[in-house]
Amino acid sequence: MTQDELKQAVARAAIEYVPSGEIIGVGTGSTANFFIDELGKIKDRVKGAVASSEATAERLRSHGIPVLDLNEVESMSVYIDGADEITATGAMIKGGGAALTREKIVASVARQFICIADGSKLVDVLGNFPLPVEVIPMAQAAVARRLKALGGEPRLRMKDGKPLLTDNGCMIIDLHGLKIADPTQLEAEINNIVGVVTVGLFAQRGADVALLGTADGVKKLT
Ligand code: 5RP
Repeated sequence: MTQDELKQAVARAAIEYVPSGEIIGVGTGSTANFFIDELGKIKDRVKGAVASSEATAERLRSHGIPVLDLNEVESMSVYIDGADEITATGAMIKGGGAALTREKIVASVARQFICIADGSKLVDVLGNFPLPVEVIPMAQAAVARRLKALGGEPRLRMKDGKPLLTDNGCMIIDLHGLKIADPTQLEAEINNIVGVVTVGLFAQRGADVALLGTADGVKKLT
């Protein structure tokens, strides 16, 4: 099976976690896109969705799924999203699609985080995938120095020759070369740097359920 077929398989499996008559949170990225396409097939089951990015909102609307502002929603049963890396205990690196801040915010309002990913995302130790950190633009050089002191190699994410700007108008620094032994502690430490908006470590609140696509079928973790 190709990686896209594995992503499609977990997207299909995640439909089982969609509650009837409720609002759900939806993530960003290619796996989340496959999930949105599956959700489109059963769109009458949900009242609507809260999107973690403008791209996701657009895709949800293209399927006729109502998109709600998070400020109108008090709680949600589930938030469904992909990951760049995940451990067997549900700690994740996210933000490859630059949506980490809104992803973390929407996930924080949901009772369960359902992670959907192809099996290649499962790792013993996080950090092979560069760790995204969203920063306030005027602080990017200062934050980069602080991140370098943690032992990684910070690189400003670029697009079309310019710093990439997130949906929040901020920049992303990707921290390369870390072996993250204690993701919960590192999440707190990086969140504490002045100028950081969000770090793409989801460990203090990780995935409650992980559905991983493998050649032997969809495996459930945690
Ligand atoms: C976007 C994310 C995505 O969930 C992550 O990058 C995985 O993407 P994909 O499903 O395309 O592999 O965190 O900010």
